[in-house]
Amino acid sequence: MSAQDAKRDLLSFHDLGAEGLLAVFERAAELKRLRAAGELPRTLAGKTLGMIFEKASTRTRVSFEVGMFELGGHAVYLSAQGTQIGRGEPLRDTARVLGAYCSGIVIRTFGQEVAEELARFAPVPVINGLTDLLHPCQVASDLFTAFEQLGPEAFSRGVRYVWIGDGNNMAHSWIEAAAILDLHLVLACPEGYEPDAELLRKARQAGRGRIEVTHDPRHAADGADVISTDVWASMGEEGEQEQRARAFAGFCVDEALLRRASDRAMVLHCLPAHRGEEITDAVIEGPRSAVFQQAANRLHVQKAILERLL
Ligand code: CP
Ligand code: NVA
Repeated sequence: MSAQDAKRDLLSFHDLGAEGLLAVFERAAELKRLRAAGELPRTLAGKTLGMIFEKASTRTRVSFEVGMFELGGHAVYLSAQGTQIGRGEPLRDTARVLGAYCSGIVIRTFGQEVAEELARFAPVPVINGLTDLLHPCQVASDLFTAFEQLGPEAFSRGVRYVWIGDGNNMAHSWIEAAAILDLHLVLACPEGYEPDAELLRKARQAGRGRIEVTHDPRHAADGADVISTDVWASMGEEGEQEQRARAFAGFCVDEALLRRASDRAMVLHCLPAHRGEEITDAVIEGPRSAVFQQAANRLHVQKAILERLL
């Protein structure tokens, strides 16, 4: 990013738009090919990424750190507890201080408004590494994984994308992606665990995509090309685990559900998974699972995002 350009954040897919997302996929494919050939372009030499994490992480943290290293840059991990953030230093102060040292900031936090406030006060790009509302970096990798398998058809209305489970941050980013890329998305959620009504309304109103919500996972799975699921209780909801386990009975992605899907169906899970709850061991280890390819793709997709924003 040159000094005269306005900084660009990635708080939600709206910041990238369809064109931006497709450009990220194209570059991610190139970076993946280059890496397999032993080539690591040092496009971010001299740049440093600050990484504020107020929740646990394996994939997001490591893929961003490795991504920066491979692009010739550097990453600094900042846990809430290990920094002044955990002692109450206002985020708007942290934003300006980190902005003086770093070329960009990733944040994993609770409220989407926290990430937005950081972006408002930081003079450098801010990337959403997961909030209670959204998880765009993950869903970008999931779509890229579908693209690898289905080719350009992945972005056509002919593909039935299905979400089974909680109407959570992952489901919300799928909804925004469907609106932006004009996808057909069917979400099956238990009653009371549907996606945010306002977010859904806005996505439908955007006039693109065909987004359905049902309470019947079997109906949703019929003819599915891509089936995604996630834990029943997200980070911060651990106290609701038992109540949710009761509400989500019947929403497990198992072999019986998978038999209803199309012959080419692929199964995605952002991980970490609770085997035997939202997905069975047989499905995650089975021939339809693209779960570990999906996790690996975080690296390539986020490198493309970092190149674009920093
Ligand atoms: N899927 C994902 O974001 O994983 P982590 O919580 O390990 O970062
Ligand atoms: N919905 C999950 C995703 C974890 C990557 C959570 O927020 O905990």
